[in-house]
Amino acid sequence: MTIRLLAPAKINLGLEILGRRSDGYHEIRTILAAISMADELLAEPASATSLDVDQHELAGDDNLVLRAAVMLGEQFPQATARFALRKRIPAASGLGGASSDAVAALIALNELRQLGLTPVELERYAARIGSDPPFFVRGGCALASGRGDVLTPLPAPASLSVVVVSPNVAIPQKTATLYGALTPADFSDGKRVQANAAALTARLDDDLCLDNAFSRPLYALAPSLRLVSDALHVAGAGRSGLSGAGPSHYALERDPERAEAIAAVVRAKLGPEAAVNVHRLIASGVTVHTYCSG
Ligand code: C5P
Repeated sequence: MTIRLLAPAKINLGLEILGRRSDGYHEIRTILAAISMADELLAEPASATSLDVDQHELAGDDNLVLRAAVMLGEQFPQATARFALRKRIPAASGLGGASSDAVAALIALNELRQLGLTPVELERYAARIGSDPPFFVRGGCALASGRGDVLTPLPAPASLSVVVVSPNVAIPQKTATLYGALTPADFSDGKRVQANAAALTARLDDDLCLDNAFSRPLYALAPSLRLVSDALHVAGAGRSGLSGAGPSHYALERDPERAEAIAAVVRAKLGPEAAVNVHRLIASGVTVHTYCSG
């Protein structure tokens, strides 16, 4: 049996950092929203775990698919599989691709090896891999607090198109570097994200505050990224933001045709410097897409 899973990307609808915690992490508030851009993970039972990736530079023991399988294998020695990962989500771009892939591996092993893990248990395993993975077990839309792993489900905004712009800018050790570049002036009390959560609960998504505390250190580190934000504005995007610690930016649009028109203008402006695509918000996380027996 081979199973095929779709591991979606996420965007952050606003992100605030409250301060540094005693465990070295930062206390955050953000709204995570899953989008239709997705990696594909194929998995079949094998006596040892292996991973084939269609992007050579992402192969290796650091890949979170392998780290997830090794971690689960410590508890369940039978949790082994042959994985093939087809990347569609740009790597290290603030869209959570590697975290989503890790959760897809956990869910694949849970299915293939009938481990019987519940979503809550899968979230606990996911939290051992990193701060971002737990969200992808259920996906949809959620308020994330703590280090990003404490989740409160929210209704997903209905029928919004998302123009995703992923510039080809690589920042070594991006997440740790950007957290390390924060100063107390970047910290805030979390009320804007709380207000976003309240608005989404009331099914009002027009007034979301999309400010992201990583904007200042990111633009300081890579000033050319301001061009991405500028290109979205010039193209007519009304609501845009930075996803995670970047460098991906996005715009929210109610009208899908307008989203495509904005994407075309940004694509023409940025050329090969960025991947620009239109997606939509989705109500799920990692999904087991098809079962093939044989
Ligand atoms: O959780 P994850 O392993 O992805 O985090 C990578 C690094 O980012 C951490 O080692 C830490 O330096 C930083 N981080 C943080 N606060 C968070 C999440 C991550 O300081 N909430």
